[in-house]
Amino acid sequence: MHPAPAPAPADADPAALYDHLLRALDGLVAGERDPIANLANAAALLYATLPGLNWAGFYLLRGAELVVGPFQGRPACVRIALDRGVCGAAARARRTQIVADVHAFPGHIACDAASNAEIVVPLLRGDRLLGVLDLDSPLPGRFSEEDGRGLEAFAARLVAASDL
Ligand code: SME
Repeated sequence: MHPAPAPAPADADPAALYDHLLRALDGLVAGERDPIANLANAAALLYATLPGLNWAGFYLLRGAELVVGPFQGRPACVRIALDRGVCGAAARARRTQIVADVHAFPGHIACDAASNAEIVVPLLRGDRLLGVLDLDSPLPGRFSEEDGRGLEAFAARLVAASDL
């Protein structure tokens, strides 16, 4: 029903890239609140748009664990306890975690040996934790504070648009 989003400009600076991502997300979720549909398209959009990723997707809070949701990339660990990994750290702190070198992060969970850098953004509705958005990259130091701000805005828009 929705047309494919226009491609991001090849030389886009990060601000332009995140502006493009937010507009494309709005187009994809317009008139649709199904969480699987919206998270699946959001993961595909991020993976197709942001350079240098090898995984992009969601873990959703189910009881006291995070369970893998829609994603793009290699098959991943299914369940993550809240005291494990970068995802657990973001969920516990309810704050974005930017890890330049996952091999130096205590408790990092290696789902794909190609991953070197990671960013995890909590999905929050008010005070309630719904899950996390997780991006992995083979490029050490791939994610910046600007990525953090852009992805937090992306996550907020996605949560507002979906019955999560
Ligand atoms: N590396 C993550 C686990 C999820 S995979 O990267 C997809 C972590 O340490 O939480």
